[in-house]
Amino acid sequence: MRKKITVIGAGFVGSTCAHWIAAKELADVVLVDIAEGLPQGKALDLLEAGPIEGFDVSVVGTNDYDATANSDIVILTSGAPRKPGMSREDLVSINAEITASNIIKVVKTSPNATIIVVNNPMDTMAYLAYKVSGLPRNKVIGQGGVLDSARYRTFIALEAGVSVEDVQAMLMGGHGDEMVPMPRFTTISGIPISEFIPQDRINAIVERAKKGGGEIVALLKTGSAYYAPSAATVQMAEAILKDKKRVLPASAYLDGEYGIKDVFFGVPVVLGSNGIEKIIELPLTPEEQAGVDKSTALVRDSIAALPEKYRL
Ligand code: 2OP
Repeated sequence: MRKKITVIGAGFVGSTCAHWIAAKELADVVLVDIAEGLPQGKALDLLEAGPIEGFDVSVVGTNDYDATANSDIVILTSGAPRKPGMSREDLVSINAEITASNIIKVVKTSPNATIIVVNNPMDTMAYLAYKVSGLPRNKVIGQGGVLDSARYRTFIALEAGVSVEDVQAMLMGGHGDEMVPMPRFTTISGIPISEFIPQDRINAIVERAKKGGGEIVALLKTGSAYYAPSAATVQMAEAILKDKKRVLPASAYLDGEYGIKDVFFGVPVVLGSNGIEKIIELPLTPEEQAGVDKSTALVRDSIAALPEKYRL
């Protein structure tokens, strides 16, 4: 039986997710958007790339949810992106209603899907999706950590002059400017990064990684990043569809892990066919704990800005 992924939102992130999914032949794709013609046009255009690129999956664009029925994975990208000067949190009120209504519709057609939430503020939208969907917590996952660690790994590879393939890294925290990259758990082929990069440069890289999304927004001026966010999302989808048990940073609903309750927060997890199959609890240094505390407080503030009906 072929796998199916629904991507909600045919903007840059959604359509680039569809592109990576098709190029990898991971699953059939259904691209949904409210704009008439947009998902249909992008889906057809992508389908027509198949004979050239040699991929063979179904790609369908639609304005309703009929074709999404029985999806294995739903990727939620719909909503407004940030503009220069905006924080991800500035998007709470704009994106909450869009997210809630899309989740309600898609859970009706695909009650067994795993949902990956990408739209911002991501941890808050994942929280909302979890509360509105009624799904178990392992089936609602926020995408942020894979993207943030990819940026962090990119900067480390550039600085050390080594292949990005050999840079492994972990980070924690909300998908915001107070995320917590963790040099202690960052290596180049198992060798601590301190063997390659002096501490002042590591500090600068950590700061750049934390503001990595904003760096792209400032350059693009009309929207936010999409290549790396969508690649990160599709890596998570692949881990789930292929039951890979990948150890990746992702936003999970915490129910006491790390002493945190009732928030979505970026932590190391094991991703497999049951979604988040395990949350890995690392012992933290006082400095890492302080970073986690600061980041948690920001996510809590953002969740508190949701309409009350979504916080119950
Ligand atoms: C980013 O960090 C859009 O939040 C996304 O680029």
